[in-house]
Amino acid sequence: MDYTSSQVESIVRKILGELGESAPARKSNGAIPKTGKVAMLTATKKIEVKEFAIPELQDDDILVKVEGCGVCGTDVHEWKGDPFGIIPVTLGHEGTGEIIALGKNIKFDTAGKPIKVGDKVVTSVISCGECHICRNHPANTNLCDKQGVFGLIPHDDKNPFTGWFSTHLLIRGKSATYFVVNDLDLQERMLLELACVCVHALKRAQSTGLINFNSKVLIQGLGPVGLVMCSVLRAAGVNHIIAIDGTPKRLEMAKKLGVKSVISFKDVSSLEERVRMVKQLANGVGVDFAFQCTGAPMAAKDIYEYIRRGGGLCEMGFFVNNGEYSVNPHFAMCNKEINLVGSWDYSADDYPTTMAFLRQAREMNIPIKELITHTFPLDKLNEAMEVNVAQQGIKICYVPD
Ligand SMILES: NC(=O)c1ccc[n+]([C@@H]2O[C@H](COP(=O)([O-])OP(=O)(O)OC[C@H]3O[C@@H](n4cnc5c(N)ncnc54)[C@H](O)[C@@H]3O)[C@@H](O)[C@H]2O)c1
Ligand SMILES: [Zn+2]
Ligand SMILES: [Zn+2]
Repeated sequence: MDYTSSQVESIVRKILGELGESAPARKSNGAIPKTGKVAMLTATKKIEVKEFAIPELQDDDILVKVEGCGVCGTDVHEWKGDPFGIIPVTLGHEGTGEIIALGKNIKFDTAGKPIKVGDKVVTSVISCGECHICRNHPANTNLCDKQGVFGLIPHDDKNPFTGWFSTHLLIRGKSATYFVVNDLDLQERMLLELACVCVHALKRAQSTGLINFNSKVLIQGLGPVGLVMCSVLRAAGVNHIIAIDGTPKRLEMAKKLGVKSVISFKDVSSLEERVRMVKQLANGVGVDFAFQCTGAPMAAKDIYEYIRRGGGLCEMGFFVNNGEYSVNPHFAMCNKEINLVGSWDYSADDYPTTMAFLRQAREMNIPIKELITHTFPLDKLNEAMEVNVAQQGIKICYVPD
């Protein structure tokens, strides 16, 4: 078959177009704003709103208009005392928003889903790709020595939009991971990162073989982590959950999420009595498995008492160094043959599983969205931190005006 030169030209143009070669350097759904604002932590307990020019977009960049971001306990720690030594920094790693511009090289998200302007997106971890873990244990990138996230990157004038406490986030860098999540609403997307911590902890707990439909499970500590852990367990088919905390609102919330029995350590101040109550609820011997979600060394010490011989424990409550405790290893672990797992953060591959959990929670009417009790705009984030420190709500979020 013979082709005319104009037909050949049209075919070549089509193929190049499909390869992205003739695509514009960026795609956007309208004008990209010249500037954006960030809520920058400039000193301990001091967040200031600052305006910067949005950098020139490159071929591998994604520009996101921020729609919301959860305030994490880690943000509060950083606000209080800068344990990571990264001030000045724009915090916020539990964020989500809409893509407003896309570099021409970006065609798929980290899971291989097609990505386009207008999609809702969340970011996950940034691993280094070079440390022992990244090279030898790629399934455990949560343990990467230089693990990073958007929201904990020290300020750099070249790109000030690296944290979700801002009007825009610029996803830049080959190791960045991000996922399209169009079917989840804003509240679900703001809870996704927190839920991922718990989905990862469930995976660690399941490695002991002790989590099943018949397990009696204890959750110690009902902050956002403990409450989401209750929800994840419910969605995974665990129906016998016992929870301990001292705040009536948090205990009530646990019941709404489907927890069978709650105990207030304020009402029942004797450990011996609490252990007796837990045993009574758990076959007379103690729970099959327990999740430690308090961040309190004293609670971490007590938890062994609630667990039956041959049971298991997931220690997930110390993302920061809150101090030590001592136990008698004969009674606490060896003689009981405790199956102990730690749980640290999550890997990017926990994200698709977590999205599935959120869909499952919705289908089961687990009212996880009720965990969001307060929202604050960009210029009120100091207040958001104070409300968090005072434990006045449960999950506090930044949502732009
Ligand atoms: N493993 C991870 O990857 C990971 C990720 C994020 C956070 N965390 C950790 O999880 C912990 C909990 O986070 P959060 O945001 O829910 O914190 P939070 O402070 O809001 O909640 C902790 C809860 O524990 C309760 N508590 C304290 N002492 C207790 C006791 N003796 N018995 C029962 N309950 C008790 C408190 O009343 C509070 O409600 C933090 O310490 C954080 O470091 C871990
Ligand atoms: Zn977090
Ligand atoms: Zn690494």
